[in-house]
Amino acid sequence: MTGGRKPEPPPLPDCLHVREVMALGAARLDPEIVAYFAAGAGDEETLSDNEAAFTRRALRPRVLTDVAGLSTASTVLGHPVVMPVGVAPTAEHGLAHPEAERASALAAAAAGVPFCLSTAATLSLEEVAEVAGSPRWLQLYASARRADTEQLVARAVGAGFEAIVLTVDVGIVGLRDRERAARRANPDHPYYRGRRYLTPGHDVTASGFPATWQDLAWLREACDGRPLVLKGVMTGEDAARAIDHGVAAVWVSNHGGRQLDRAPATLDVLEEVVSAVGGRAEVYLDGGVRRGVDVACALALGARCVFVGRPVVFGLAAGGREGVAAVLGMLRRELHVTMALLGAASVEELTPASVRRR
Ligand SMILES: Cc1cc2nc3c(=O)[nH]c(=O)nc-3n(C[C@H](O)[C@H](O)[C@H](O)COP(=O)(O)O)c2cc1C
Repeated sequence: MTGGRKPEPPPLPDCLHVREVMALGAARLDPEIVAYFAAGAGDEETLSDNEAAFTRRALRPRVLTDVAGLSTASTVLGHPVVMPVGVAPTAEHGLAHPEAERASALAAAAAGVPFCLSTAATLSLEEVAEVAGSPRWLQLYASARRADTEQLVARAVGAGFEAIVLTVDVGIVGLRDRERAARRANPDHPYYRGRRYLTPGHDVTASGFPATWQDLAWLREACDGRPLVLKGVMTGEDAARAIDHGVAAVWVSNHGGRQLDRAPATLDVLEEVVSAVGGRAEVYLDGGVRRGVDVACALALGARCVFVGRPVVFGLAAGGREGVAAVLGMLRRELHVTMALLGAASVEELTPASVRRR
C-alpha cells in the first residue's frame, strides 16, 4: 500500500507513452513551476476540451491495403520532416532543465521535426540557432515599439530562422488561476520574483502584445522574404483574412487553453479553418496532442503539421534532451502504428474519410 499517495512514475526508459513522461517531469519540478507549465485560463474548460475533442472522434480503419513501405515523412513550408509533428513555442525552458532550449532544439533536430523557438526563451536565439536543425522558426510577440520587433526579426533572419510565427492570441495575458493560486500559497518562491502579472491587483490591461491586421504588411516586409505564420487563429473568418494578408500558414491554436477560457477545442475548429483556407496556405494545429492517434486524426482533418507544447516542457523536466527525444519517439512510433492499422501508407492517405464523429 502507498498510504494513498500517488504511485511513483516509472523512470524515463520504462515510460510507455507521453502522459507517463509528463507525469515524471511534473514529479521532478516544484509545484510552482508545474502550475506555470500546466495551467489553463479560468476554469480550464478549454484546456481540458482540447484533449477531450480527440476522444470525440473515431478512426475508420481500411483493411488489406499495402502499407509495407509506410512513411510518416512530409514537408512543412517546403522543408522535409521525418514526421509532421513539431515542437510548439513555449517560454523559459530553463525552468524545466538547465540545458533549456539547447536540449529541446537538439532533440527536435535529431528527430527531424520542426522546432519553433519562443520569444520568451531562456537562451538567446543565437545560442539556440547554433544547435537547431531545420525547420527552425522563431515565434514572435510583437512589441509595442516597432523598432524592437524589427530588430528581433532581423536577428532571427540573420541567425538562419526559416520562418517567423506571429502569435496573435495574447493581445492581453489570460488569467491563469491555477498559477495565481500557487503563488498565493507560496508567494516567496523564487519563481515569482519579478512576475508582476501574478500579483493581486496588477493592472491586467497593461500587459499583453498588441498587434492588429494593419501591422501585417509591415511585418511581412520585416521578414525579408521569410514566410510569416499566424499562430492563434480560431475561426474561418480570420483564417481567410490571414490569407488575404499573404501569410504562408495559419496555426490553429488557443494557446493550450491558457488565454480565452471557453474558446472551442482546436480540433473542433480545424475543419472550418481548413475549408476557409481552401488549400491557399498550410494549416497547423496544436492543443491537447498526446498520442499518435491524435496526430493522425488532426492530419486527416487537414492539418499539415501538429505541434506539442506541454509534452515537450515536461519531457525536458523528465530527462533533458533524452526526455524530449522520448516524447517525439513515442509520437512517431504511435503515428506509424496508427497509420498502418488505418491502412494509410503515407500522410497524404490520411483524409477526412479516416475520421468520424463518435
Ligand atoms: C508553459 C507554456 C508556455 C508557452 N509559451 C508560449 C510562448 O512563449 N509563445 C507562444 O506562442 N505560445 C506559447 N505557449 C503555447 C504553445 O505554443 C502551444 O500553443 C500550446 O502549449 C499547445 O498546447 P499543448 O500544451 O496542449 O500541447 C505556451 C504554452 C505553455 C504550456
